[in-house]
Amino acid sequence: MEEQARKEKFQERIDKGEKIEPKDWMPDRYRQQLIRMMSQHAHSEIVGMLPEGNWITRAPSLRRKMVLLSKVQDEAGHGMYLYSATETLGISREEMIDQLLSGEAKYSSIFNYPTLTWADVGIIGWLVDGAAIINQTMLARSSYGPYSRAMIRICKEENFHKKQGYEMVATMAEGTPEQQEMVQESLNRWWWPTLMMFGPHDDESPNSAELLKWDVKQKTNDELRQSFVDRHVAEAHAVGLEIPDPELEFNEETGHWEFGEIDWDEFWNVIRGNGPMNRERMNARRQAHEEGQWVREAAEEYARKQKLKEEKAS
Ligand code: 3HC
Repeated sequence: MEEQARKEKFQERIDKGEKIEPKDWMPDRYRQQLIRMMSQHAHSEIVGMLPEGNWITRAPSLRRKMVLLSKVQDEAGHGMYLYSATETLGISREEMIDQLLSGEAKYSSIFNYPTLTWADVGIIGWLVDGAAIINQTMLARSSYGPYSRAMIRICKEENFHKKQGYEMVATMAEGTPEQQEMVQESLNRWWWPTLMMFGPHDDESPNSAELLKWDVKQKTNDELRQSFVDRHVAEAHAVGLEIPDPELEFNEETGHWEFGEIDWDEFWNVIRGNGPMNRERMNARRQAHEEGQWVREAAEEYARKQKLKEEKAS
């Protein structure tokens, strides 16, 4: 009876729009859902550094290199915020990293595609970070306090990421015929995988109902995807780019762009580890983790010595 009463009280707090903080009572399922979603979000930020990182040494100018370096560094920071926010739910950083490296945890499908040309760096900033902004602006209102606050800080940086990407895309779209062709070819490769970032259709999304009930998210996967399409089709047309979807059509009545069906076989295939770059991404993460072992040991030894010093002093 007591558990039921606590769940009802918890739901009342959610319905009143109150923030749930780490020390508050919460249903185990709420905690598990947040650990799942937030840790996978953190993994996505860290793995997401790899595709663009591939181009840091080959940026076409010092300015582009500095901007790209800054963006990739931001993504690392986003991962740290999100791992720290997730630790408030009682899972350790080590457990989360183990879940990623063992393949147990997911990260966003979008990062399992190759970055084949420099235009991909602009398209990723514009589309992938554009998709992240749509999703994360909503998550900034999440019922879990630490997640919501992490999102507020991250969204500010994502806006810079999108602007630098769109500026690169616009520059190439107005550039030489080779640049125009390169940026259109890149858009053709990244458009559909970006739509997949928002997850399966609402009626095939096992987690959405609980996340909406508990105000972890306030919009469904399809609603977020539609917002993304409406905004980015207009931005593509503004710089003379074509969306690679023959079924794309503007509905005057609804005011929305209607679009074709996503290749869900590709989506689930990528999620199951069979995307173009899954193996490379995981090998890179495992290698980075192994190479970073000495840093973790040094930090632990330093902490141990500090603790001894404090104990002696007290
Ligand atoms: N990639 C990988 N897995 C995905 C996915 C995707 N694009 N979309 C859905 N999935 C997985 C879900 O994780 C879930 O599997 P699980 O139960 O084992 O975790 C399953 O597919 C069913 O999906 P659901 O719709 O039921 O799951 P959610 O309601 O959690 O929706 C989500 C998926 C939209 C990714 C949601 O979890 C979410 O909004 N997460 C927080 C934001 C996030 O993680 N964004 C990733 C991109 S980060 C980024 O873009 C960084 C930027 O700086 C570039």
